[in-house]
Amino acid sequence: MRFAISAVALLLTTTACTTVPMEGNIDSARTTPMVAPVLTTPDALDTSTYAQPQVARVTHVDLDLALDFAAKSVGGTATLSVLAAPGAKELVLDDKGLTIASVTDGQGKALPFTVGKSDGEKGAPLTIQIGPGGENRTVRIAYSASDADALQWLSPEQTAGGKYPYLFSQGQAILNRTWIPTQDSPGIRQTWRARVTAPKPLTVVMSGLKVGETEDLGNRRAFTYEMDKPVAPYLIAVAAGDIAFRPLGPRTGVWTEPKVLDAAASELADTEAMVSAAEKLYGPYRWGRYDMIVLPPSFPYGGMENPTLTFLTPTFIAGDRSLTGLIAHELAHSWSGNLVTNAVWGDGWLNEGVTSYFENRIVEEIYGKKRAQQEASLDYTAIIETLDRVGSDAPGTALHQPDGTDSAGSAIVYNKGAAFMRTLEHAVGRERFDAWLRQWFDKHAFQPATSQMIYDDMLAHLVTSKAEADKLKLHEWIFDPGLPSNVLRPDSAAFATVDASAKAYADAGTIPGRSTWDGWTSAERQRFLQSLPQKRSADQLGALDKALGLSASGNNEELFLWLDLALANRFDPAVEQADRFLSHVGRTKFVRPLFATLMEQGEWGQPIAKRIYAKTRAGYHSVTQASVDKVVLKD
Ligand code: BES
Ligand code: ZN
Repeated sequence: MRFAISAVALLLTTTACTTVPMEGNIDSARTTPMVAPVLTTPDALDTSTYAQPQVARVTHVDLDLALDFAAKSVGGTATLSVLAAPGAKELVLDDKGLTIASVTDGQGKALPFTVGKSDGEKGAPLTIQIGPGGENRTVRIAYSASDADALQWLSPEQTAGGKYPYLFSQGQAILNRTWIPTQDSPGIRQTWRARVTAPKPLTVVMSGLKVGETEDLGNRRAFTYEMDKPVAPYLIAVAAGDIAFRPLGPRTGVWTEPKVLDAAASELADTEAMVSAAEKLYGPYRWGRYDMIVLPPSFPYGGMENPTLTFLTPTFIAGDRSLTGLIAHELAHSWSGNLVTNAVWGDGWLNEGVTSYFENRIVEEIYGKKRAQQEASLDYTAIIETLDRVGSDAPGTALHQPDGTDSAGSAIVYNKGAAFMRTLEHAVGRERFDAWLRQWFDKHAFQPATSQMIYDDMLAHLVTSKAEADKLKLHEWIFDPGLPSNVLRPDSAAFATVDASAKAYADAGTIPGRSTWDGWTSAERQRFLQSLPQKRSADQLGALDKALGLSASGNNEELFLWLDLALANRFDPAVEQADRFLSHVGRTKFVRPLFATLMEQGEWGQPIAKRIYAKTRAGYHSVTQASVDKVVLKD
């Protein structure tokens, strides 16, 4: 297909954000939406979308939706602003399970549409005949979404308050097509606005800034939010419940259920300082506010970097801010991920790896070098474990994962990605490295990126010669499996104390004293638990628990490691606690491994896993269900 140059240029390049006065009202200036480029190189081709952005692409989404808690359904209209190439006849959207009532143009004239064959996870193409017309089109879809995979509708019993239902969404990676009819690809950025109604007294929050006052509609209220910067559509997020807000600093604050507010606010007290630290490292925070919502425990992730409103699990609340690396991580995504975004999911390390590095730099600023080094060291161990398990030549251990590669998992995307950044920082020096990373964010702000692009950028702006690039093994780091030999290994001094204790336990059964244990950082306690001999008798486990209070730990990362160790050793006294934990926590990172461990324990563990899952499955988000199904319901 061929298009006139000007239209292609319009479709594929950035239009600067300009301000034009609204007709007849010189006071209220209206901003024409920013339009971000779509990349056209083969490595930026997203095979998990049906969209054909070169033909017609969505630039803005305007939602008007009502939440129906009884029906677990959201419905209303999505009005899309579309940029069409000359001669374009069709607009293709992603649709997974939507019920489409009608599709019309800007004038209300019906547009013919078809929903194609559904292909598993990817859903189906929604193809709309947009007919002849100019570059700028409007398409309005009236629709509803019932039991959408992105959305979890919680019963009152699943909340802390126990009185009102709750809703939250999880868009990453390709779930937003289950509740928003749009082009659901990280490389097709869109601005958005949404008006959402909910029954009183529920409050609706979204990953954008609030517009105007809440509307009172009798027994319902309407909330309007806006994102005026083009974002990847997986970042559109909503939550609704009986929630309250507490400011933490001038531009930071936390939403959560009233019962959880004190604990959440206290745990998150360092947030404003983290935003300032992040800005000092890599440039201005460009999203206005940085708020967070602490969700009910069924939230399937630790955190999700929804712009202006990070979504969080309550399981990070330990009482001592020892697990707030999570906040540093989600905040860092405001640069790596939300500002500069992987164009395709196979380059997820551009989001997660760079963010994990950035996270560690924020942790260093706020909590000091020791904690940062310890956390980096835990991350490094996870890389080695993964490589030992899958082999250093497994294709899934490369950072750049071409379509069809079976990823070796988060230790590669997150930890190897971070180790790459750390290695570069060490080799060229912090000053040079930081200047490079900052210019990468600035230059690609609000745009998609690929592995090839960051490689080219390193050649142009990080190193001074091809020889230096070769010495740093830049290409190998990004495109080859395994861990390059120049990797910066963690300083063994970081864990010298705890490693000595772990050795004393392994050699002579000496358990650290309780005051020693309590004096350690959480990273040190996790390190100790991970270093324990894998085979333990019931007596040994009982003694460890008695001495260290493991089963009573208020730190969920540590509690998880204890439960996992106990279940792996068929320790009956841990079963009841595991049952209780799995009955309210839905965080995949904890839930899946615990079920997997039980399933590995033959005639002892499998009946326990099946019994627990039969009652807990319905309370999990679809993400957690899908991941545990593979473990427990595999035959
Ligand atoms: N963006 C991710 C969560 C995610 C990843 C959702 C992939 C869907 C698909 C988020 O930023 C994240 O990495 N969360 C981690 C935090 C941890 C690494 C500090 C988590 O949930 O555990
Ligand atoms: Zn992340």
